[in-house]
Amino acid sequence: MTTWTPVGKVSDFQVGSAKAIDLNGETICLVRNNKGFHAVTDACSHGAVSLSEGTVTEDGIECFLHGSEFNLETGVPKTPPAISSIDVFEVQVTGDGDNAVVSVGI
Ligand code: FES
Repeated sequence: MTTWTPVGKVSDFQVGSAKAIDLNGETICLVRNNKGFHAVTDACSHGAVSLSEGTVTEDGIECFLHGSEFNLETGVPKTPPAISSIDVFEVQVTGDGDNAVVSVGI
Protein backbone atom coordinates (compact mmCIF):
# COMPACT_ATOMS: atom_id res chain seq x y z
CA MET A 1 0.00 0.00 0.00
CA THR A 2 1.31 3.43 -0.94
CA THR A 3 1.91 5.89 1.87
CA TRP A 4 1.70 9.50 0.72
CA THR A 5 3.90 12.05 2.44
CA PRO A 6 3.46 15.79 1.77
CA VAL A 7 6.78 17.42 0.84
CA GLY A 8 5.72 21.00 0.17
CA LYS A 9 3.62 23.31 -1.94
CA VAL A 10 3.92 23.62 -5.71
CA SER A 11 5.38 27.11 -5.25
CA ASP A 12 8.24 25.64 -3.18
CA PHE A 13 9.71 24.03 -6.32
CA GLN A 14 10.86 25.96 -9.38
CA VAL A 15 10.47 24.44 -12.85
CA GLY A 16 13.83 23.00 -13.89
CA SER A 17 15.01 22.38 -10.35
CA ALA A 18 15.83 19.35 -8.22
CA LYS A 19 15.75 19.16 -4.45
CA ALA A 20 16.85 16.54 -1.93
CA ILE A 21 14.11 15.61 0.52
CA ASP A 22 14.33 13.34 3.53
CA LEU A 23 11.37 11.00 3.44
CA ASN A 24 11.15 8.81 6.51
CA GLY A 25 14.91 8.20 6.46
CA GLU A 26 15.22 7.80 2.70
CA THR A 27 16.58 10.68 0.64
CA ILE A 28 14.51 11.42 -2.42
CA CYS A 29 15.39 13.65 -5.36
CA LEU A 30 12.27 15.65 -6.20
CA VAL A 31 12.35 17.19 -9.68
CA ARG A 32 9.99 19.69 -11.23
CA ASN A 33 10.25 20.02 -15.00
CA ASN A 34 7.93 21.20 -17.76
CA LYS A 35 5.99 17.92 -17.53
CA GLY A 36 5.35 18.13 -13.79
CA PHE A 37 6.85 16.52 -10.70
CA HIS A 38 9.01 13.42 -10.47
CA ALA A 39 10.66 11.63 -7.57
CA VAL A 40 13.62 9.28 -7.75
CA THR A 41 16.12 8.01 -5.23
CA ASP A 42 18.75 10.67 -4.59
CA ALA A 43 21.72 8.47 -5.42
CA CYS A 44 23.32 7.88 -8.79
CA SER A 45 23.57 4.16 -9.53
CA HIS A 46 27.14 4.63 -10.78
CA GLY A 47 28.84 6.44 -7.91
CA ALA A 48 26.12 7.00 -5.28
CA VAL A 49 26.51 10.78 -5.41
CA SER A 50 23.47 13.00 -4.98
CA LEU A 51 21.41 13.33 -8.17
CA SER A 52 19.67 16.40 -6.78
CA GLU A 53 22.96 18.24 -7.34
CA GLY A 54 22.79 17.37 -11.03
CA THR A 55 21.16 19.09 -13.99
CA VAL A 56 17.48 18.78 -14.87
CA THR A 57 17.07 18.01 -18.58
CA GLU A 58 13.94 17.83 -20.73
CA ASP A 59 12.81 14.47 -19.34
CA GLY A 60 15.66 13.40 -17.10
CA ILE A 61 18.30 14.33 -14.61
CA GLU A 62 22.00 14.32 -15.37
CA CYS A 63 24.51 13.28 -12.73
CA PHE A 64 27.01 16.05 -12.05
CA LEU A 65 29.97 13.70 -11.60
CA HIS A 66 30.26 11.66 -14.81
CA GLY A 67 27.24 12.82 -16.78
CA SER A 68 24.88 9.83 -16.83
CA GLU A 69 21.36 10.98 -17.56
CA PHE A 70 18.45 9.08 -15.98
CA ASN A 71 14.90 8.94 -17.31
CA LEU A 72 12.69 10.40 -14.58
CA GLU A 73 9.70 8.20 -15.44
CA THR A 74 11.48 4.86 -15.61
CA GLY A 75 14.73 5.40 -13.69
CA VAL A 76 16.66 3.86 -16.58
CA PRO A 77 20.03 5.46 -17.42
CA LYS A 78 19.92 6.98 -20.90
CA THR A 79 23.66 7.54 -21.12
CA PRO A 80 26.75 5.81 -19.67
CA PRO A 81 28.65 5.21 -17.50
CA ALA A 82 25.71 4.21 -15.24
CA ILE A 83 24.13 0.90 -16.28
CA SER A 84 21.69 0.25 -13.41
CA SER A 85 18.31 1.91 -12.94
CA ILE A 86 17.40 4.07 -9.98
CA ASP A 87 14.17 3.78 -8.00
CA VAL A 88 11.21 5.88 -9.12
CA PHE A 89 8.42 6.99 -6.79
CA GLU A 90 4.92 8.25 -7.46
CA VAL A 91 4.11 11.93 -7.00
CA GLN A 92 0.68 13.47 -6.63
CA VAL A 93 -0.43 17.07 -6.52
CA THR A 94 -3.64 17.88 -4.67
CA GLY A 95 -5.35 21.25 -4.78
CA ASP A 96 -5.07 24.12 -7.18
CA GLY A 97 -2.45 26.63 -8.20
CA ASP A 98 0.75 27.43 -6.33
CA ASN A 99 -0.75 26.37 -2.98
CA ALA A 100 -1.46 22.82 -4.17
CA VAL A 101 0.31 20.19 -2.07
CA VAL A 102 2.98 17.91 -3.54
CA SER A 103 3.14 14.42 -2.02
CA VAL A 104 5.46 11.50 -2.67
CA GLY A 105 4.25 7.92 -2.39
CA ILE A 106 6.42 5.14 -1.03
S1 FES B 1 28.64 9.02 -10.19
FE1 FES B 1 26.94 9.48 -11.44
S2 FES B 1 27.60 9.00 -13.44
FE2 FES B 1 29.31 8.49 -12.19
